[in-house]
Amino acid sequence: MRIAVLGGDGYCGWATSLYLSEKNHSVAVLDNFVRREWDKELGAQTLTPIRPLDERVETWRKISGKTLDVFGGDVTDYGFLSSVLKEFRPDAVVHFAEQRSAPYSMIDLEHAVFTQVNNVVGTLNLLFALRENCPDCHLVKLGTMGEYGTPNIDIEEGYITIEHNGRRDTLPYPKQPGSFYHLSKVHDSHNIAFTCKIWGLRATDLNQGVVYGTLTDEVARDEALINRFDYDQVFGTVLNRFCAQAAVGYPLTVYGKGGQTRGFLDLRDTVRCIELACLNPAAPGEFRVFNQFTEQFSVLELAQLVQTAGEKLGLKVTVDHLPDPRVEAEAHYYNAKHSRLVDLGLKPHLLSEALLDSLMNIAIRYRDRIEPAQFEPNVNWRQTSNPLALRGKRRTGLVAKATRKASRNGKSRREVPTFAGSDSPAENAASKGTFSSQ
Ligand SMILES: NC(=O)c1ccc[n+]([C@@H]2O[C@H](COP(=O)([O-])OP(=O)(O)OC[C@H]3O[C@@H](n4cnc5c(N)ncnc54)[C@H](O)[C@@H]3O)[C@@H](O)[C@H]2O)c1
Repeated sequence: MRIAVLGGDGYCGWATSLYLSEKNHSVAVLDNFVRREWDKELGAQTLTPIRPLDERVETWRKISGKTLDVFGGDVTDYGFLSSVLKEFRPDAVVHFAEQRSAPYSMIDLEHAVFTQVNNVVGTLNLLFALRENCPDCHLVKLGTMGEYGTPNIDIEEGYITIEHNGRRDTLPYPKQPGSFYHLSKVHDSHNIAFTCKIWGLRATDLNQGVVYGTLTDEVARDEALINRFDYDQVFGTVLNRFCAQAAVGYPLTVYGKGGQTRGFLDLRDTVRCIELACLNPAAPGEFRVFNQFTEQFSVLELAQLVQTAGEKLGLKVTVDHLPDPRVEAEAHYYNAKHSRLVDLGLKPHLLSEALLDSLMNIAIRYRDRIEPAQFEPNVNWRQTSNPLALRGKRRTGLVAKATRKASRNGKSRREVPTFAGSDSPAENAASKGTFSSQ
């Protein structure tokens, strides 16, 4: 199949692009590299020293003999996005290209506006561009399990059949998102469902759980293909962050009681789920929803698993309960259905001791790059301004600047903008040793 991966330079997108390419799909990677800019703004860096996209793509070509088409530009630039679809003519578009951190969206007004404009306008542009250029193309859109919140009943896959005053109907499952980021995903879901109805577009909304891990078989083939591993309090997903904390002897930071329960999945399952969705497209006019996770854990359970794994490796791991900076239930009922991807053939990689060991070993391998100050939660949901989160290069006029910069880059497709590379001395000094698999 011809598959365009929007956000293909990011954590899920890079691993997915390589996986699909390895499976002999023709893959186009589109990204504006803004994720690398957010690191600079937060004064943070991925634990693993990722390379510029052009170097990643060239390494993949040498190793696999396969080519990835690269389009540097912004999905909020309609002209750019539309021209990419026209030129590449995808059978499926996988849309990862959004601002995906809840804390980032809660920093202040500017970051809330930026998140919603970037995500909602980007997706709206995509819907119009699909309708205009390739209305039969299947949209595979990354949503999040966080769209549902934590209701006191079972969570279904997208729809719920209810009886009300003696009548019965199947309706979209109620959404109770917990941040301006999660709200942007709900707005996206509504816009996508609407365009499936009015224009007959076909779409799959993948309500993904929290992803952990950094290695896939493809990424592990060369150090230059290494993927992101975010451990900071703004972008670091919880299990990755706990492993980094354990590696440097910093207490695992559990927010409140730690009873917050969520769905989780291994990055190797993310890439497989995407391929399964592409190979089994929604019907024209169908807005299909899959809950994309494989296991559920409470945050405290994860901390205890990391503690045990760390101690096996000779690390002393302690757990700290901090006041919860988020507004969320610290203990609650949680039972979310997730059978539709398994029905399509997903064979989950469950979180085993072996996987935790390998995650811990990656964290230990790169621990010199860990800055413990990045663990401190300093985005408080109850405040409308959280300047302490911005430890790096301040981005002023975020909304306008991001849009202008990206549309300039969009004029030169296939050119990777200069800010794609790292200018962090630590990254440049990073080891060039062989990158071995788990
Ligand atoms: N990582 C997770 O645990 C997780 C969980 C649930 C859902 N998701 C969803 O999966 C998707 C990918 O997440 P990720 O962890 O890979 O994030 P990421 O930040 O690592 O990657 C996103 C990529 O999109 C690019 N991007 C953002 N806005 C863009 C724009 N306007 N134009 C072009 N490119 C743009 C970024 O530069 C980045 O490379 C997101 O939509 C996210 O909401 C992720």
